[in-house]
Amino acid sequence: MTDTQKSATLTLNGENYELPIFSPTAGPDVLDIRKLYAKAGVFTYDPGFTSTASCDSTITYIDGDKGELLHRGYPIDQLASKSHYLEVCYLLLYGELPTAAQLEDFETRVTRHTMVHEQMHNFFRGFRRDAHPMATLVGVVGAMSAFYHDSLDVTDPWQREVAAVRLIAKLPTIAAMAYKYSIGQPFVYPRNDLDYAANFLHMCFSVPAEEYHVNPILSRAMDRILTLHADHEQNASTSTVRLASSSGANPFACIAAGIACLWGPAHGGANQACLEMLKEIGTVDRIPEYIARAKDKNDPFRLMGFGHRVYKNTDPRAKVLKQSADEVLELLGVEDNPLLQVAKELEQTALNDPYFIEKKLFPNVDFYSGIILEAMGFPTSMFTPIFALSRTVGWISQWKEMIADPQNKIGRPRQLYLGETMRDYIDIEQR
Ligand code: SDX
Repeated sequence: MTDTQKSATLTLNGENYELPIFSPTAGPDVLDIRKLYAKAGVFTYDPGFTSTASCDSTITYIDGDKGELLHRGYPIDQLASKSHYLEVCYLLLYGELPTAAQLEDFETRVTRHTMVHEQMHNFFRGFRRDAHPMATLVGVVGAMSAFYHDSLDVTDPWQREVAAVRLIAKLPTIAAMAYKYSIGQPFVYPRNDLDYAANFLHMCFSVPAEEYHVNPILSRAMDRILTLHADHEQNASTSTVRLASSSGANPFACIAAGIACLWGPAHGGANQACLEMLKEIGTVDRIPEYIARAKDKNDPFRLMGFGHRVYKNTDPRAKVLKQSADEVLELLGVEDNPLLQVAKELEQTALNDPYFIEKKLFPNVDFYSGIILEAMGFPTSMFTPIFALSRTVGWISQWKEMIADPQNKIGRPRQLYLGETMRDYIDIEQR
């Protein structure tokens, strides 16, 4: 970060404290409060981190007012239309778009790591068939630390690199295995002649009893969905991975923590919740009833796939996914899918409603993704696992950046304590 010699003055109890101001290459200035408690004996208070920069980073920049999302400076809509997921993985991990030779080497390294240790198949047998695939994903990814002992030492750059490639390569395999296990079909091994997205579809939808040919329309749409979900600054699950990693925990355990956080319906679980909401609404004539519920303070119902902590204009990913939903459903001959009609009508109704306008609530990345995934043949329970396998590269890129930062230290927030002050124990006879 650039030290601008600017500072802010805090006056507290008659004392003045200078807080250095750092200016970013893009976005708001930050106040450096690292020495505030030592100097002034006070904490700052920011539950939910609405005004807190937890780190500095060079990976992803979001402008919530302009609806901009940049990965290493490249706009998401250009990456979605001109690049592909593994190239975006390279960009996030190493900071620059690869040359043809670099890309080929990276794709080969990922391809050669797509199989999982054969004994990991046994983990699945311990789960109920009706376990949510996210439960399986958390368990099996965490258990990778029980197998890949030669890539656990986070202080060794070579082991960090191997762990990164293993996670990017194996998450689709494990997610596909979780899906196959949930429907009682045999696991399908990855194939080295297929690209990343096609391989995932193959592992999910092929069966030993017949030839399976990946539909290029679906693999292109799958690749675009993976690209759009790859990284997103310091969101809840990325912050979870950073905090877990700050203790020196191994990368597999930290990514499992990120998967667990992403599962929540306020975060990555919203794509499943959104499609279930659209199905519950069912027809456009029921939209007013649900809009009213979303506005009712006494009703916990929220429009899933709407709203965002950062985007207060539009989520650029939602725009690309809306176009992709139209294309994919038309190419599949299901453009009159009632869910898509309900989604579009719901979006228009909400965007013209004063409540949503005033609170700056717009469709986010989760609003249209589920419609595409369902059209591809995925059950709603697989939507968040697909988000997780895509976001693994973002988590890993942020993890590598943090581990390599000499300022890196364990994250240990404080609190505003509102509990009892000291008091003596009372024997049970006196209670
Ligand atoms: C993701 O952080 C990221 O970058 C996340 C993500 C990523 O790529 O990593 O982008 C992925 O998680 C997208 C968000 C998916 N979640 C949903 O779609 C769930 C529905 N949305 C919300 O729950 C909510 O909008 C959040 C969680 C996304 C954001 O919550 P905030 O920023 O904490 O905002 P808030 O809950 O304080 O809401 C502000 C106001 C409130 O009203 P008031 O209390 O001020 O009267 O807006 C209202 C909320 O009640 N509101 C909604 C609403 N979202 C917010 N009202 C109705 N429907 C909604 N969806």
